[in-house]
Amino acid sequence: MKSLLIVHHSLTGGTLQMAQAAATGAGREAGVTVRLQPAAGTGPQALLECDGYLFACPENLAAMSGVMKDFFDRCYYPALDRIQGRPYAVLICAGSDGSSAARQIERIATGWRLRDIAPPLIVCTHAQTPEEILRPKKIGEPDLARCEELGATLAAGLALGIF
Ligand SMILES: Cc1cc2nc3c(=O)[nH]c(=O)nc-3n(C[C@H](O)[C@H](O)[C@H](O)COP(=O)(O)O)c2cc1C
Repeated sequence: MKSLLIVHHSLTGGTLQMAQAAATGAGREAGVTVRLQPAAGTGPQALLECDGYLFACPENLAAMSGVMKDFFDRCYYPALDRIQGRPYAVLICAGSDGSSAARQIERIATGWRLRDIAPPLIVCTHAQTPEEILRPKKIGEPDLARCEELGATLAAGLALGIF
């Protein structure tokens, strides 16, 4: 049995819906256990125990969200040289961009020598004003379907031993 760790952080709920959709897609794969965990409660042991990863967070101030960064700060050295070669993918929820957050996570994953199985999946909520940005988010079905498919792809590859 293989295991997929989905680490997530979300301020206004958008990323959480994306991570949950990915977990739903991955959960259809019989040979894979899915662990959906908030970044704040996740430490290096979970990384060591799982065979593949999905990292999911919003872009805040042209960077990954601080709580997600804290997860990587706490886990980077304890996991270094112990998880190389494992597959991963990235989910970003952004107002209008998301590329900076994705790039930051990719650089950390490169340091860990993980294998990306897909380009970062960025969902833009098009929130522009302070009111829109702080409002709870509702991610549309087409975007949730993309997240679900990415979770399913990662899980299928793990189960089949492709990655
Ligand atoms: C403090 C703050 C800074 C933000 N900075 C950016 C940014 O640099 N680029 C961007 O595309 N969106 C930015 N956003 C918008 C969020 O990425 C967007 O609202 C996203 O949907 C939040 O995801 P969440 O619902 O998972 O928290 C920012 C939001 C906040 C609260």
